[in-house]
Amino acid sequence: MGAGARLGRRGRSFLEAILLVGGQGTRLRPLTISTPKPLLPTAGVPLLEHQLTRARDAGVERIVFATSYRAEMFNEAFGDGRRLGMEFRYVTEDEPLGTAGAVRNASAALTCGPDDPVLILNGDILSGHDISAQVEAHQKGDAQITLHLTLVDDARRYGSVPTGPDGRVLDFVEKSPDPPTNQVNAGCYVFRRSMIERIPAGRPVSAEYETFPMLLADGEVIVGYVEAAYWLDVGTPAAFVRGARDLVLGAMPSPVVTASEHGVLLLGGATVEPGAQVGGGTTVGARSVVGAGAHVESSVLFDDATVEAGARVVRSVIGEGARICAGAVLEDAVIGDRAIVGPGNELVNGLRLWPGVELPDTAVRFSADG
Ligand code: GDD
Ligand code: MG
Repeated sequence: MGAGARLGRRGRSFLEAILLVGGQGTRLRPLTISTPKPLLPTAGVPLLEHQLTRARDAGVERIVFATSYRAEMFNEAFGDGRRLGMEFRYVTEDEPLGTAGAVRNASAALTCGPDDPVLILNGDILSGHDISAQVEAHQKGDAQITLHLTLVDDARRYGSVPTGPDGRVLDFVEKSPDPPTNQVNAGCYVFRRSMIERIPAGRPVSAEYETFPMLLADGEVIVGYVEAAYWLDVGTPAAFVRGARDLVLGAMPSPVVTASEHGVLLLGGATVEPGAQVGGGTTVGARSVVGAGAHVESSVLFDDATVEAGARVVRSVIGEGARICAGAVLEDAVIGDRAIVGPGNELVNGLRLWPGVELPDTAVRFSADG
């Protein structure tokens, strides 16, 4: 902590964060056509709200949102932050500046000093790790940057980050077909603020492909904070369904979710008719209806959705106002807003239906893998 650092609430040093929420969420289409990924309703609140409230409980008092895609929707959802007990600011890129370019651009709205720690968060993560412990680890050592690292089974979709015996980061290898280790970048960083000034301004810059490798080559001390708590990148429909399920079941702890005993979260005005089986961490959105004898498991129903009698819905997402007619079967499917799946159709293996599309009463099996 720099000399003369400000004290924040609860006597801790004042902590600011930058939140990266400018991505287009392409892998989650069609859900992200109308709503950016970080705002998708997840266990009753925007996905981001779980991470925001965990950051607040770890002492973060002020957050600068780095926005680009559908930027205005973040302000509409969270405003000045008072509802969540923090202060929010929004900085929008004219053109997407990439993960580090966005940080550099948003840093103009920070108020802390050059030696103070700044927390930087990817906006599509559910993580149960101890943010305070990560910040403390950063403060104790002489690191310029401290990265939360976690272990995954397959590191090819992530930043693979080998560390030495002293915890120092040796390399940063983004999305390699041949990653050096299964220890990966978990998308939560503590930067000494002066390091942010090392990112070039005014052009797109990738933290993963450019900034981390450049700072390592310059000999800057970057260390790993390894913690194997619950962790999920909510980048695909399968991961989105899993994250919502884990929040409802309590496997991912969130300050804004009361884990359900019966494996179901019913939002305001939702109806489950007698004889329907609903469970496995399902969310039934506001005013949505599940008909008699339907089976709904580990799925997410957005608001005003309908699952008619006898339909079967497993590990699927049903968009706002969409309708699944009697006897239809969905497994690992994504149904866009207001789409209609006619009676008897089967949609399996990651099949996605675009918003407003109507599948008539054809009783056909549609599979994304042909
Ligand atoms: N403002 C802004 N501008 N935000 C951006 C931009 C941009 O140009 N590009 C991406 N973002 C935001 C996204 O909205 C997301 O919250 C975050 O940056 C990370 O982008 P993703 O597109 O989700 O990246 P990823 O999941 O492929 O990989 C990243 O996260 C992994 C962990 O989940 C990398 O940081 C990997 O190294 C890491 O392992
Ligand atoms: Mg991601």
